[in-house]
Amino acid sequence: MPKIVVIGSYVVDLMSRAPHLPKPGETVLGGPFKMGPGGKGGNQATAAVRCGSNVTFVTRLGDDVFGREALEHFRRERVNTQYIKHDKDEATGAALISVDQQSENSIVVALGACGKISEGDVLEAEAEIKEADIVLLQLETSIEAVVASVRLSAKHGVPVILNPAPFQKFSKEILKDVSYITPNETEAHELTGVEVIDEHSALIAAKKLYELGVKNVIITLGKQGAFLYTGGEKGKLIPGFTVDAIDTTGAGDAFNGGFAHAVASGKSITDAMIFGNCVAALSVTKIGTAPAMPIKTEIDEFLKHNGVLI
Ligand code: RIB
Ligand code: NA
Repeated sequence: MPKIVVIGSYVVDLMSRAPHLPKPGETVLGGPFKMGPGGKGGNQATAAVRCGSNVTFVTRLGDDVFGREALEHFRRERVNTQYIKHDKDEATGAALISVDQQSENSIVVALGACGKISEGDVLEAEAEIKEADIVLLQLETSIEAVVASVRLSAKHGVPVILNPAPFQKFSKEILKDVSYITPNETEAHELTGVEVIDEHSALIAAKKLYELGVKNVIITLGKQGAFLYTGGEKGKLIPGFTVDAIDTTGAGDAFNGGFAHAVASGKSITDAMIFGNCVAALSVTKIGTAPAMPIKTEIDEFLKHNGVLI
């Protein structure tokens, strides 16, 4: 079984659909209300474990009802919860999510406990990191935790996937120890100053990230798919699958969890991107984030149905 360590956020997702996303000062009547496990780290961990990886998740939860529910979720999913800490001072994080009629979303995330993951928490998981095929990170926690994770992975020669979401400032110096970076259009823009709207602009942004030391740059382009750049003149667009989307929240997490699983399984980068696109496509056909991640049989079925051999 491929072995993945995910270090990052867990938050409870509080979601409602509305006819449109509220404008400043506006109250919109929405409904129904849905609550479930979320956070980019937790979603990616859930996606990867459902693909068939052995997953260890390092995070911090509050000592409250949301924290206890989170632990139950990860135990049910058979994620290794040994390095999940319970913070006495901070509440479990929460995300306030609105989804409109077009399935677009807007999110405010209050990190709470998972914003306090420390260097010490990461160092405690050294034995797991050392044995991992992939370490998977996001920016939805303290930068201290991200930097410590990159350093420790580099020390043991373990490849790192950094999903720089949501964008936060960090020292670009760590990028030389990041094997794969996976921003979406918005995050690529924040990282490079290049507005990413198509393949052409994705290539310009990707070259900038490559020059900072990341050997494999993957810019996700929503339903268009994902763009890969690994040096040289050109990159390559790996097109997404067409599905009827109901809720696109967490699609990026599905891609990253699926991609991490496939890379950790020894697949080529392009095959791993096809796999990630497939996991993302399936996730948008269901409401919610972590609970919407597909299981292995659904993925196999979908790939077969689409005539994909990877
Ligand atoms: O990427 C989607 C996730 O971002 C949601 O689950 C929400 O928790 C936010 O953090
Ligand atoms: Na979904």
